[in-house]
Amino acid sequence: MANETVINPVDGEDSVNTGRRRFLTATTAVVGAVGVVGAAVPFIKSWNPSARALLAGAPVTVDISALQEGQRLILEWRGQPIWIVKRSKAILDALPTLDGDLRDPTSENADQQPAYVREANPELRSIKPEISVLVGLCTHLGCSPEMVAEIRPEPFDPNWKGGYFCPCHKSKFDMAGRVYQGVPAPTNLVVPPHYYADDDTIVIGVDPQGAA
Ligand code: FES
Repeated sequence: MANETVINPVDGEDSVNTGRRRFLTATTAVVGAVGVVGAAVPFIKSWNPSARALLAGAPVTVDISALQEGQRLILEWRGQPIWIVKRSKAILDALPTLDGDLRDPTSENADQQPAYVREANPELRSIKPEISVLVGLCTHLGCSPEMVAEIRPEPFDPNWKGGYFCPCHKSKFDMAGRVYQGVPAPTNLVVPPHYYADDDTIVIGVDPQGAA
């Protein structure tokens, strides 16, 4: 990209920029592809309304029928990565055992998820137990954490029960996006507004009908 400057990734701040830039680069590539298609049609259509609406934050509808246990779908909403993960029973069983290691195990901070998500289950932070929907940006300085979904010892945590690890400054989150104690990230990952149009269809960006 012409406006991309190279920063030596020698300290945390630069690493943050590197992580964020990686996502922005991918985002820009998608937008760029839309632009190329638009250029091939008359000018009046070059402003594809759906593309413009997407950039403005229009809802995104996702079919999750093919999503297998342990898999993650990544999409974009309002310029942010949205993760949809299908969690296994082993992961769901492990989540409550982590409560003592977490800053906000029962999702008290109302800014981090809609009320209907907390009411559904404050530890799982999801409408359906197995399906987690999160904004994939670290709540420290905005890097995109890595999913490390297996329950096994990891170099950064010998008691790891699966979750997300942010390489920028080593923040850790569990598979519900709940932040561990003693890391730079101050809050749980954000759960975006969403609802199920049917069993296999999630609409990101809209609250369920009647939700406060
Ligand atoms: S951005 Fe600093 S730990 Fe994730």
